[in-house]
Amino acid sequence: MTAATATIIAPDAPVERIALSVPDIGEHEQRFVDEAFAGNWIGPLGPNLDAFERELAARVGAGKALAVSSGTAGLHLALRCLGVGSEDRVFCSSLTFAASVNPIRYLGAEPVFVDSDPDTWCMSPRALERALQAAQRKGRLPKVVLVVNLYGQSADFRAIESLCGSYGVPIVEDAAESLGATFEARASGTIGRIGVYSFNGNKIITTGGGGAIVSDDVALVDRARHLATQAREARPEYHHLEVGYNYRMSNVQAGIGRGQLRVLDARIAARRGVFDRYRKLLAHIPEITWMPEAPFGQSSRWLSVATLTSGGAATRDALLASLDGAGIEARHVWKPMHRQPVFEAYDYIPHEVGFSVSDRLYGTGFCLPSSSSLTEAQQHRVVHAIDAALAP
Ligand SMILES: Cc1ncc(COP(=O)(O)O)c(C=O)c1O
Repeated sequence: MTAATATIIAPDAPVERIALSVPDIGEHEQRFVDEAFAGNWIGPLGPNLDAFERELAARVGAGKALAVSSGTAGLHLALRCLGVGSEDRVFCSSLTFAASVNPIRYLGAEPVFVDSDPDTWCMSPRALERALQAAQRKGRLPKVVLVVNLYGQSADFRAIESLCGSYGVPIVEDAAESLGATFEARASGTIGRIGVYSFNGNKIITTGGGGAIVSDDVALVDRARHLATQAREARPEYHHLEVGYNYRMSNVQAGIGRGQLRVLDARIAARRGVFDRYRKLLAHIPEITWMPEAPFGQSSRWLSVATLTSGGAATRDALLASLDGAGIEARHVWKPMHRQPVFEAYDYIPHEVGFSVSDRLYGTGFCLPSSSSLTEAQQHRVVHAIDAALAP
């Protein structure tokens, strides 16, 4: 090999950092964005926005969709549309990101945290049942049950739907992490009265920041649209009967979303492929237990997540530190909401009396780089770093 053809790597060359989850742009996004610029449709209305809402609703089989500025905004609107106010309680999955709970507090309502089920890591039907029974005894049923579909996995709605139905409490599905997953033959996000997606940059598809609400109840989505546009009445002068929000997505972002929707299936296949490869390449480490996939549907495997069955939190933390040192972004599983100083005053209902699943998952769980664009070479680097960290 001559000097001209050799690949020269300087000994102190910086190691390329592998991120947890990054955007993966397809072929069509630029065209839709260019059309928005060409038509001067760059504000919060326009052809991309209308088409994105139609295309998203068609993709998931919902009656109607509303594109908004974030998943958090979508949750806020969903709760407000279902009448949540300062006198109310909202039951909510504890194992989630704070964005699921903050909108409950924006409305002055009281969250009650419900533990996870070991088979899905999502809301425990057993804990929910005990919580609903206790709430009925006290005459304080929740206004809404907010169920989070975690890391691309749908919750077990076989039990949750009938429980909530029998108590007459509507479900809001936080499907921020589960677009493209299924529950039986239904799309994740379409089981609850209202479903909410996120198109944040780390999600399975992105609009560079954004979210959406879906529902079969067209009137509810129209009400959310009204509230999302400062609750401005359809009159020539600026006329308002109630307090609203500035929560609409822009037509430029919706253009990115239209392109991304066209590659959603490919992105799901890629993320599932990443997960399967980790499982195969790390099969020789028996202490690693992978997040289960429930039999009633397909997870999108938004993130590849596992727990360590020996060594506890100290070993897990050492693993994360070691990966960080190797230029690899891996993360803890969400810290449960009942453990957060800001929410610790609120009630928590564990899976079984004296046995909290979310605490166990938080104590030993970790999320690995899971981007749909992750190359096999990058994934081998992650696997070698895990091998090195967990070597006896
Ligand atoms: C479970 C969950 N809910 C809600 C959100 C909020 O979405 P956004 O970041 O679009 O506001 C996120 C992600 O950020 C999330 O992971």
